[in-house]
Amino acid sequence: MKTSHSIGKPIDRLEGHLKVTGAATYAAEYEVGDLLHGYVVNSTITKGKIIDIDEQAARELPGVIEVFSHNNRSKLPWFDILYADMDAPPGTPFKPLYDENVLYNGQPIALVVAETFETARYAASLIKITYEESKFKTSLLSNLQDSRSPKKGMATVVKPLPPDDKGNFEKAYAAANVTYEGEFNHPPEHHNPLELFATTTVYEGKGKLTVYDKTQGTSNSQLYIANIFGLHYKNVRVIAPFVGGGFGSGLRPQYQLFLCVMASLQLKRNVRVAMDRSQMFTFGHRPPTYQKTKFGASKDGMLTALHHTAIAETSQNEDYNEVVVNWGGMLYPVKNTEFDYKLVSLDIFTPMDMRAPGGSTGMHAIETSMDALSYALNMDPLEFRLLNYSETDESANKPFSSKELKACYQKASEAFGWEQRNPKPRTTKRGQRLVGTGMSSGIWDVIALPGKAKATLNKKGQLKVKSAVTDIGTGTRTIMTQIAADSLGMTLDNVVFEYGDSKMPLAPIQGGSYTTGVIGSAVKAVCEALKKKILKAVKRVEASSFKGATLDDVIFSDNYIKLKKDPNIGFSFQQLVSDNGKKLKASKSNIPNAFKLKKYTRAAHSAAFVEVEVDEQLGTIKVTRAVTAVAAGKIINPKTASSQILGGMIWGIGKALQEETLIDHNLGKYMNTNLGEYHIPVHADINDLEVIFVEEKDDIINELGAKGVGEIGLVSMAPAIANAIYHATGKRINNFPIHFDDLL
Ligand code: MOS
Repeated sequence: MKTSHSIGKPIDRLEGHLKVTGAATYAAEYEVGDLLHGYVVNSTITKGKIIDIDEQAARELPGVIEVFSHNNRSKLPWFDILYADMDAPPGTPFKPLYDENVLYNGQPIALVVAETFETARYAASLIKITYEESKFKTSLLSNLQDSRSPKKGMATVVKPLPPDDKGNFEKAYAAANVTYEGEFNHPPEHHNPLELFATTTVYEGKGKLTVYDKTQGTSNSQLYIANIFGLHYKNVRVIAPFVGGGFGSGLRPQYQLFLCVMASLQLKRNVRVAMDRSQMFTFGHRPPTYQKTKFGASKDGMLTALHHTAIAETSQNEDYNEVVVNWGGMLYPVKNTEFDYKLVSLDIFTPMDMRAPGGSTGMHAIETSMDALSYALNMDPLEFRLLNYSETDESANKPFSSKELKACYQKASEAFGWEQRNPKPRTTKRGQRLVGTGMSSGIWDVIALPGKAKATLNKKGQLKVKSAVTDIGTGTRTIMTQIAADSLGMTLDNVVFEYGDSKMPLAPIQGGSYTTGVIGSAVKAVCEALKKKILKAVKRVEASSFKGATLDDVIFSDNYIKLKKDPNIGFSFQQLVSDNGKKLKASKSNIPNAFKLKKYTRAAHSAAFVEVEVDEQLGTIKVTRAVTAVAAGKIINPKTASSQILGGMIWGIGKALQEETLIDHNLGKYMNTNLGEYHIPVHADINDLEVIFVEEKDDIINELGAKGVGEIGLVSMAPAIANAIYHATGKRINNFPIHFDDLL
C-alpha cells in the first residue's frame, strides 16, 4: 500500500496471509534435522513424594533415548533468583525435576525422549511411579480463614496494593439511604490459546542453543535458560515470530522450555517438547477469587460508602497477586472507602496473569454493585454512573492523564439504543424469552516500561526496525511497521519490522496492553534518531541545497528528505544510502519519564451495553447484541484494535457464561482439562457485536499517546452481561459463570 500516513488507517495484518495459508511457522513446527521428541510425564497425585520411578519398560522400548527425572537430571542451581523470570511474583519459583517432592497435581516429574513423538508418548505411559501421598488443600472457599496479606517483591510490572482506607466507611454505610451487599465467586480459568506450549531446540555445539519457543517474551525465555543452565546469554537465541495466542500464559517460561533445553544440553541433540491440551492445564491459571462488596448511596444517588475486599488463591511457593479491589475508588468519587486484598496458599501451581488480570475480576463486583444500587434508587444505571462520574482519581488524589469515559457512555448508549429500554426488570419479552439490557464501565491501567529499538536504512531504500518483542496475535508487527513508516515519512512497502528474536534489542514481555505504548514509542524514537543521521548524510552527499539545514528546515515524506521551503528539492532515501556508500543506522531506548508520569492516573476506559435473551422455561442465555465503546488514546490501526476489543468482548461472554476449570477437591485435580468440557464461546454463541473508538488525546502517557487495547474490551463486558441477565429475569446471580440452572 502506498501511503506515508498509515497511522489511524485499518491496515490489514501484514502476516495475515502467512497465517491463514499455514505458512507461518510455530514453535513445534520448525523443520530441524535429526530431531528427538520429548513427552512429559505428569504427577497423578497432588502432594507428596516420589518414592520410585520404574523406567525399565520405557527404556526397553526401541527408539527411546533417555528418561529424565530428578534422579538423573543435570546439575541445577538451587538459588531461587536464577529461576526468577521477568514475571515471577515474590516467592520461590517452581523448579522442574528438582527433587522428589510433588507440589501439585500435574507437576512434570519425568521427560521421556525418543526418536518419535509417538514412541515418547507411548513410553511415558509405561512408566510406573510409586508415590507417598500427603494431605493437601486445594479449595479456596474452604480455606478462607487462612487468608493473609501478599508478600511484596519485584516483578516487571509492580502491582499496586489496595489504597488506604478513607473517611469512615462503617458510619457512612450505616447512614446510607440505599445499600447493596454482595458476594462474588469466580472459578479458576485456564488460558487456552490455540497454539499448545512447545519448544524446539537446535543444539549448536557446547553451551550454545537456538530455541524456538512459544512465549510472550523472547528475552524472558533467553535469560531464564541462560541463568538456570549457566550459559552465556549470547549463546542462547530464542525465536518466536508467530505465537498462536497467549492471553498471559506465555508471560512466564513454561516447563516444556526447561525440559527441552535440559534434554538438548545433556544429550547434545536437537529436541522438541510439546504439550498436549490437557497438559495446558498443568501450569498457571486465573486464580479463583472470592469478593465481597458493600456499597451505599444517598437518596439523591451519590455514592457515599464503598467497601470491596477480595481473597484469591496462590500456590505454596509463590505469592501471585493482582489488582482486584482498587478500581472502584479510581472510577467513582467516594469519601468513605475500605479495601482489602488477601491470599490463601493452596497446593496448586502458581496462578498467573490472564487477560485483564484482577481488573476483569474486580470490575464484575464493582459494576454489579453499582447496577444493584441504581435499581434500588429507581434510577437508570447509566444516569447513576454519570451522576457519580469523576474527572479525577479521588482514590489517589491525582488527575487522569486523559479520561473520555463519558464519551464512551454516550457513543455506546446511542448506538445501542439504551433509551428505548423499559427500566423494569422481567417485563420485556420476545416470545418465550425474557429480554434484558445491561451496561457496565471498564477501566484498565496504562503501564509504562522502557523499550529499545534499532533501525537501519539500506541501499534498497528499505527501513528495517528491530525489537525482540513478540506479536501474540495482537497486530504488533503491523502497527510497528505503521509507526516506523509514518515516523520516517515512508510508504509501508519500504518498511520491515523484524521482531520475535532475542538477538534483537531487549523488549519487556508482551502483556498488560502496554506493547503498543512501550515498543511503539521506542520505534518512534529510533526513527527520530535516524532522521538526524539522514540529514547529516544528505549534507555529506549533496552539500549544496541542504547546506545549513536543521531538522526544522526539512520534511520526511514519500521515502524522501525534502526541503520545507521547496519540497521539489529532495533526496530519496535509496539514492542517499547508495551515495553514502553504507547503511544508515540508529539505536534508541525509550525510557519513560517516571517523575512526570507519577503525577497522573493513567488508564484506558470502556463502556459496554449488552442485550440478552433468557429462555423462561430452560434458563438458557444468549447474548443477542452488544456495543462496546473504548477510550484508549490514539488508535494506531482501527482494524487490529477492533479485533482486540472484539476478542475481549467474546472473552467476556465466555467469562460470564462459560469458562471455568472444575476441580475435584478430594483429588486436588482439575477435571475438565480438554476443549470438549472446558467451554469457551464458539461461533454459534456470537451474535451482533459492535466496537466504537472514541477520540481521546493524551500527550502525557507516551510519545504516541496510545494506551493499548488488549484488555479493556473484556473488563466491561462480563459485568454488563450479568446486569442484563438481572434486567431480563429479576435475578442477581453473582457467581461466574452464570449457568442456566441458576435462572430456573
Ligand atoms: Mo496479558 S494477561 O498481560 O498477556
